[in-house]
Amino acid sequence: MSVHSSANIKRITTHILQEMKDRGEKISMLTAYDYSMAKLVDAAGVDIILVGDSASNVMAGHETTLPITLDQMIYHASAVVRAVKRSFVVIDIPFGSYQGNSSEALRSAIRIMKESGAHAVKVEGGAEIRESVVRILSAGVPVMGHLGLTPQSIYKFGTYTVRAKEKAEAEKLIEDAKILEQCGCFAIVLEKIPASLATQVAQTVRIPVIGIGAGGGVDGQVLVMHDMLGITQEFKPRFLRQYADLQKIMTDAFTQYIQDVKSKDFPNDSESY
Ligand code: KIV
Repeated sequence: MSVHSSANIKRITTHILQEMKDRGEKISMLTAYDYSMAKLVDAAGVDIILVGDSASNVMAGHETTLPITLDQMIYHASAVVRAVKRSFVVIDIPFGSYQGNSSEALRSAIRIMKESGAHAVKVEGGAEIRESVVRILSAGVPVMGHLGLTPQSIYKFGTYTVRAKEKAEAEKLIEDAKILEQCGCFAIVLEKIPASLATQVAQTVRIPVIGIGAGGGVDGQVLVMHDMLGITQEFKPRFLRQYADLQKIMTDAFTQYIQDVKSKDFPNDSESY
């Protein structure tokens, strides 16, 4: 029996993602970091679940994505993989686990695939990490690239403002996208760049281009779950569409619970044995 046919659910593959681009169907991608949320995201029909190193921010409370470790990413990834029946699951290789050299990159990718059961890895950068990308791909591990605002390099950029507005950076980004495609990456994330540039990249490379803050001319969109659900209220960039106000809903529930406990309303007789 093929794992792809279990429970009659057709799993998303890199091949299916390419077909979606080819026929002009937009690809949906969301982050998830734990079993319960991943189960909801998968059941809703999201095509790609990204176990992003944004876990460092939204799950662990760090200011940047830099502190999260490979072991921590594998912990989050394996919980997500256990929940998923259909979505394609991509895991960020965290900062410091692939930039050193291509052997380290391969070792990290293999640990992620073996220990979490994920379907692919994501890395940030272009020409400078080419060797690592090739090495990971040579082991049969699908790789998603990530260009534009690459949060693992935040101390090089200095700010989270829009990238590649200048000609030289835009040209390098297009070159990097071509390099990632030539290496064999199955998709590329473009973060926070001008919409016209992102559209140009999506039209230049054959592989799917997924945007976050990159406009509507790309092949799909990704958002961080906690931002789109309104759990994180302090982060409101222009590109973010907030689909719920979970901060309010959850806070109201917590407040009501406290009130019910204090007033001895909870538990009542029907909630007791
Ligand atoms: O870590 C993450 O959540 C990401 C997305 C913003 C693309 O890389």
